[in-house]
Amino acid sequence: MRKFIAFCIGLGLVGAVIGWFVSAPSPVVAAGSESLEQGGDAARGKLVFNAGGCASCHATPEQEDRLKLGGGYELKSPFGSFFAPNISPHPADGIGKWKVADLVNAMQAGVSPSGEHYFPAFPFTTYAHAKIEDIRDLMFYLRALEPVAGKAKAHTVGFPFNIRRGLGMWKLLNHDRAPIVADPSKDAAWNRGRYLVESLGHCAECHSARDFMGGIIGKYKFAGGPDAEGKDWVPNITQHKDGIADWSVKDIAYMLKTGDTPDGDSVGGEMNKVVKNMAELNDSDRDAIAAYVKSFPAKESPPKPEKK
Ligand code: HEC
Ligand code: HEC
Repeated sequence: MRKFIAFCIGLGLVGAVIGWFVSAPSPVVAAGSESLEQGGDAARGKLVFNAGGCASCHATPEQEDRLKLGGGYELKSPFGSFFAPNISPHPADGIGKWKVADLVNAMQAGVSPSGEHYFPAFPFTTYAHAKIEDIRDLMFYLRALEPVAGKAKAHTVGFPFNIRRGLGMWKLLNHDRAPIVADPSKDAAWNRGRYLVESLGHCAECHSARDFMGGIIGKYKFAGGPDAEGKDWVPNITQHKDGIADWSVKDIAYMLKTGDTPDGDSVGGEMNKVVKNMAELNDSDRDAIAAYVKSFPAKESPPKPEKK
């Protein structure tokens, strides 16, 4: 019996050690590396910024300027609240001292310059598919914005979800970093739209149902689901009759520019902010997104909970 207990303890220890290693943050580039500092284009970076919707979360709330990225916006979740940090170029309170490599690691690997995991409330699981050149241009753009002083509040997420190391296990299941490879059987616009939707645009982050661990359920990707707080419902945007089968490519592109829907209404809530970002893109990118969205196969919506 003693031997058996010793064996179990041994096994437990081995498991813990393996767990510790597999949960280790694995950055893409060495933190602080100078290797990506040349050739960024801030004007292109502005498009990346708008396609990525960074202002939706990082702009300081209760003021008009969406380029003041002082953070503080509260993202509620069933586990507690996350507060988007200051990503303005302020040297102490923002990311003014960051290298391009640090932003690449944050967006593609969900790892901070000090080597900790980020929470997926920052949609790095989707930004992981963004091109390194796009992230470099974005960094050059962010550096040109106004530095904002002040740090955001600390997250109020409770134990055990507040342990960053534990996110390593989560990432093994939910964080695919593979780049998006162009599909030669489709045209350039569709491929551009796919890239924008599946990486920067992060549409699936809201328009999908998730499993109990917060991972997107494949068969409900784009088929809608409860919002992050679990209070409202985000619509199905596939070609199902309960989705947007009756919207044309033009209707989708027009909504992304103006917020107006084909039935004469306009989108509200979180989508309102998405439209503010999308309105800053050029027509060709919005048309590309619309063409890709229109190609989604029809998917049944996930079951809605009974209204209480
Ligand atoms: C849905 C909301 C949301 C969006 C959209 C978003 N972020 Fe964030 N971001 C967060 C949250 C929340 C954190 C904090 C994560 C943590 O503490 O683990 C964060 C963290 C960061 C950090 C780390 C800052 C630090 O001090 O360590 C950077 C850099 C960042 N985001 C950049 C961006 C960029 C660039 C974009 C647009 C491409 C973007 N974010 C879009 C919510 C968002
Ligand atoms: C931050 C969460 C969020 C993100 C990101 C997001 N959406 Fe939405 N979207 C919503 C919500 C919420 C609604 C419902 C708005 C309403 O009730 O008026 C919506 C509505 C829509 C609609 C209208 C559906 C209908 O039946 O009326 C379309 C189309 C749409 N989104 C497409 C997109 C595309 C394309 C993207 C990516 C570029 C995207 N959304 C990104 C939250 C989001």
